[in-house]
Amino acid sequence: MSIAVYLVLLLALTLIDGYSLYANSTNSRLLTVLNTSVSTLDVVLHIDVVEGNRTPRTTTEVKPLTLKDIIRAEINGDWERGRFVLQLASQSHTLELKQAIYEALWQELQQMGQIYDPVKVLDFYDQLTQQSQVPSALLVQVYDEFIGRSAHLLAAPFHTDSRSARFPKVAALLERLTLSTLDYLSDILEALFSPVLALESALSVVQRLGNFSGSVTQLTLANLQLLQRTELKLNVDGKAAVQDNLRQLLEQPSFDQEVDRSLREKVYEQLPPDEKILFTAQKICLHNMTNHNSYIYECPQTYLICTNERDPKKASYYVQRGNGGANNTLRFAFYSSYWRNRYILMEPSNHSTGNYVTKNIYSRDSIFWWQVVQLAGGGVALYDAATSSSMLCGGDPKHWDGEERHVYTRSSLEFENYRRECVWRVEDCSDVTK
Ligand SMILES: *[C@@H]1O[C@H](CO)[C@@H](O)[C@H](O)[C@H]1NC(C)=O
Ligand SMILES: *[C@@H]1O[C@H](CO)[C@@H](O)[C@H](O)[C@H]1NC(C)=O
Ligand SMILES: *[C@@H]1O[C@H](CO)[C@@H](O)[C@H](O)[C@H]1NC(C)=O
Ligand SMILES: *[C@@H]1O[C@H](CO)[C@@H](O)[C@H](O)[C@H]1NC(C)=O
Ligand SMILES: *[C@@H]1O[C@H](CO)[C@@H](O)[C@H](O)[C@H]1NC(C)=O
Ligand SMILES: *[C@@H]1O[C@H](CO)[C@@H](O)[C@H](O)[C@H]1NC(C)=O
Repeated sequence: MSIAVYLVLLLALTLIDGYSLYANSTNSRLLTVLNTSVSTLDVVLHIDVVEGNRTPRTTTEVKPLTLKDIIRAEINGDWERGRFVLQLASQSHTLELKQAIYEALWQELQQMGQIYDPVKVLDFYDQLTQQSQVPSALLVQVYDEFIGRSAHLLAAPFHTDSRSARFPKVAALLERLTLSTLDYLSDILEALFSPVLALESALSVVQRLGNFSGSVTQLTLANLQLLQRTELKLNVDGKAAVQDNLRQLLEQPSFDQEVDRSLREKVYEQLPPDEKILFTAQKICLHNMTNHNSYIYECPQTYLICTNERDPKKASYYVQRGNGGANNTLRFAFYSSYWRNRYILMEPSNHSTGNYVTKNIYSRDSIFWWQVVQLAGGGVALYDAATSSSMLCGGDPKHWDGEERHVYTRSSLEFENYRRECVWRVEDCSDVTK
């Protein structure tokens, strides 16, 4: 141990027998010490390298009681009493005494088994920060202890093969951390990832993180921070797995309300271009992947939807986002500002099987929800959110009618056979004024 600083209090009055070493708020030796005015108290500030060393000055008739002894008696094995000692410390007459009490209290708490519980250390740290004149070195020490203990605890699930194993202490810590600044979690993660990534593959760490239960904000921060690690930089699989984790979080109904805007924007930054635009743009356009003069909007003559020549005013749609349906999945609706808030709507059809097209896509004033799936090679596929059995396709002149280049739906089972017809690019059309 480093240099232990403690006070030797030469107090005749504390030695009066009958005082039990056990003390509480009504019978507190520490309080008595503090209550005594400085002049009547012979306080020797004693700095000693070896813990427990007694100063030679204290000999026969007056047996010295160290501050440490007094605090030990005060705490009496009960961590919660640390709070009480802190309150008493604030009443002490001198800065030296006050700071010596803080130090001695921390020494005492460290001796106790409960220091293994980072929540306890955090509570103590929080209490300490509310005191005046706490030495900054002590604050740093307690904080580091809290971070180290927390990282140690959080590491366990990463080294466990079982996916169904439960970690109640980890859950309790994360729960407690929701009451504190996110900086604490960030520091813990920093301390956690190095040792964990040294022992486990990056992919496995990412997947474990995907199984963590914590608040949406905590998990978002953790995934983003993991993504910053050098171990992930060149790891294609690992990165993709982080993206999957982030998508799972985006799917959470509470994501928008719960997660801070700046953190949300960092998540969107990690998405492929099409998907990112869906979350960040006020208005979007959907167009053909290869033919940049082929945009989705209302047909020239009917209320069906066509692929038409580029006309950003007509092609721009507001994006509406929400959770719903049987599985409460994330879904999107697109409504036109040009055509008085009419939505891109699919009429029901029987697309469970079969290689055929149905012209059932309309411009209508009732809402219709799409499931948008980002594809690995770029572009998105649009499924009807209710059943995921039909997808939006277009571009085959066989299904057109003169000027009317209708879009249509196919069975989603046919996707691989008609990929070219059923993949769309999302463009940011926010700048387009109505
Ligand atoms: C505090 O000490 C007094 C006297 O020693 C005792 O009667 C009382 O029960 C103690 N209170 C607590 C909460 O331990
Ligand atoms: C400390 O002093 C206050 C008044 O100054 C007194 O009310 C209290 O009883 C004293 N406490 C002890 C433990 O002596
Ligand atoms: C853990 O994640 C995997 C997918 O990564 C999932 O299949 C499994 O159900 C999850 N387990 C728990 C307990 O959440
Ligand atoms: C779908 O097919 C079933 C039977 O094949 C039929 O009863 C039903 O009306 C059809 N629905 C639509 C929307 O065409
Ligand atoms: C909803 O979830 C169930 C069970 O996971 C699945 O079978 C079903 O296909 C899902 N429905 C949609 C529309 O994705
Ligand atoms: C995109 O354009 C190509 C070539 O014109 C066409 O074959 C394809 O079906 C179109 N795809 C869509 C989704 O419109």
